[in-house]
Amino acid sequence: MTTLRSPFTPGDLPRVLVGRVPERTRLRDLLARVTAYGELAGPPVVLHAPRGLGKTSLLRDTEDRARELGFVTAWVACAKGSTMFPELASSVRRALIDAEVLDDRSTRRVLDSIAVEFGLFGISFSSEFGLAAGESAPPAAAISGLERLLHQAAHSVRERGGAGLLVLIDELHAAPYAELAILLNALQNLAGRRAENPLALMTAGLPSTPEMIMRAATFGERSEFISIERFDDDDSRRVLQEPATGLEVSWHPDALAAALAVADGNPYLLQLAGDATWQAAAPVAGDVLELADLQAGEDRMRGQMAAMCRARWDSASELEQSFLAAMADYAQEIVPREHIAHTMGRDTRSISVPRARLIDRGVIEAAGRGRLRFTLPGMAAWVRDHHGG
Ligand SMILES: Nc1ncnc2c1ncn2[C@@H]1O[C@H](COP(=O)(O)OP(=O)(O)OP(=O)(O)O)[C@@H](O)[C@H]1O
Ligand SMILES: [Mg+2]
Repeated sequence: MTTLRSPFTPGDLPRVLVGRVPERTRLRDLLARVTAYGELAGPPVVLHAPRGLGKTSLLRDTEDRARELGFVTAWVACAKGSTMFPELASSVRRALIDAEVLDDRSTRRVLDSIAVEFGLFGISFSSEFGLAAGESAPPAAAISGLERLLHQAAHSVRERGGAGLLVLIDELHAAPYAELAILLNALQNLAGRRAENPLALMTAGLPSTPEMIMRAATFGERSEFISIERFDDDDSRRVLQEPATGLEVSWHPDALAAALAVADGNPYLLQLAGDATWQAAAPVAGDVLELADLQAGEDRMRGQMAAMCRARWDSASELEQSFLAAMADYAQEIVPREHIAHTMGRDTRSISVPRARLIDRGVIEAAGRGRLRFTLPGMAAWVRDHHGG
């Protein structure tokens, strides 16, 4: 019998999407509003969480659902230092072409003219509209351009018998601040004529995203913020078991328990543990993944986790690093703020800046009042080992 390819997907969309039932239900309800009434789904949705918790997976899952419902979908992934709108305009345009909505001449003309405004053809958006970082009011021309783009696209989809337009923006925390303000303003204006705009905007980003949105526009606070959490033990087990069961491979309870302990509810680490165990075991149908297989795969897993810890450590400033070292120095997973301040020789108020920055980047997270923990399981041990924390 030939060995089976690993069904686990560290760093990729999961083959089996586990859990997230309330979130999926909510997202589906918002889509249903567009489908049923041909109107705007509501304020933008913002999925937020540290790295590896499943934001992109949930967004992609929503995109699949939306397509089944007859939506045309446009996907944008923001990147630090790049503009968002040119990609947004071209993604909408491509989606309309694929859905054969863009053979309508007038729609094409409107979209093309807006696309030019957005620098699709090489004109930098920021220079075109004279946007400087921190400029207070977003330029009206840019807002109305984006409004026209979204309205025209959504409207033409509906006219052709589709449900509407779904715009998905991933890594929103990396969007230029000025573009974010324009996006929120445009959406707010479209909400004023909700019945004419069969449209939904769903986004995802690091924990800094909600705050960024609230700063970019006062009404940003009315966005629908959905925090994506770690998995509990039941869902964690399903992440490990369901892809394996599909290939008639099972987990020994000891191996399963050990994998759960390593991953601590982090979906990425669950996939990584599953994959490493699978590679070590090279199972055929009917096999059982044993604790020894997990242990044999541990080197590969630890190498990967160490690389992630190092990347987070290296991106921290000196002050942030001493904050992290003080956290790692604590004997338990959940660290009181006083301990960190005390270890750093400061008072608790004066450590609020590095604390906020580390939370924004998803390196640490709040764990109850005045308490913090690392978002990546195993990072405390890594810091202790490498920096004598
Ligand atoms: N619901 C789920 N069920 C099973 N596996 C999942 C689920 N959600 C995420 N994963 C797995 O976890 C890993 C991380 O998922 P994803 O890329 O969606 O996270 P993310 O929050 O977008 O991370 P990042 O911030 O790094 O972009 C992937 O390997 C994916 O296969
Ligand atoms: Mg992602």
